[in-house]
Amino acid sequence: MRRPLIVGNWKLHKTVGEAIALIEKLKLAIGDPGGREVAIAPPFTALYAVRGALCGTPIALAGQDCHGEEKGAFTGAVSAGMLRDVGCRYVIVGHSERREHFGETDAAIARKLLAALAAGLAPILCLGEKSKDRGRTREVITRQLETALASVERPDRVVIAYEPVWAIGSGTPATPAEAATVADLVRERLAAGWGPEMAGRTRVLYGGSVNATNAGGFLGREEIDGALVGGASLDATTFSAIVEAAPFFEG
Ligand code: PGA
Repeated sequence: MRRPLIVGNWKLHKTVGEAIALIEKLKLAIGDPGGREVAIAPPFTALYAVRGALCGTPIALAGQDCHGEEKGAFTGAVSAGMLRDVGCRYVIVGHSERREHFGETDAAIARKLLAALAAGLAPILCLGEKSKDRGRTREVITRQLETALASVERPDRVVIAYEPVWAIGSGTPATPAEAATVADLVRERLAAGWGPEMAGRTRVLYGGSVNATNAGGFLGREEIDGALVGGASLDATTFSAIVEAAPFFEG
């Protein structure tokens, strides 16, 4: 069985003071996560302080993005090694907002993914079709997945997040059945490239308008191993209810 993972992606929200205040509320609300894994991705500026606030808790830290190079003349960039150094376990790679607003290509995302793995981070690779491509989900997901993982030996060190672009921040999530179909497709492609055992070990999350009310529908499906949560992760009560909607895990 794969360990459920619930990730809170705070995006461009929270100063250091606000981040610490939310973490303190989250710690109380979540308490013992019952073997489920929980990770928080605050903005870069809050990572160090949040790491301190999470000390002694099982909640992990994640970066929202990293650069594909280890170091160099890349003003404004943050490397995977720097994220690891500040205490991250995970880094989100290829989020649709990065693809859309920062012009990230599948090739750039593949470099970031390798950089993350080389630094000892677990990348959370986001895949998803735009609304205009809703009839071509299979094709889009296969291309995004296979380009990103082309040079990866151990896909089970990567977490895959299916996030249909039309579902993000829209209040209109995919149905659990749609998300499960894509999770099956991801495992089918992983099995074809790396074998069924590797495919069976790789976690596939769903993201896009997950909230406390609909989370159970996704997290109750055995194909779906967790959730990547944006807006609903900014409220401690809501986010902890989403964590509770995931099955207990004894591993
Ligand atoms: P949302 O965002 O939960 O606000 O839809 C999800 C994401 O962007 O990861």
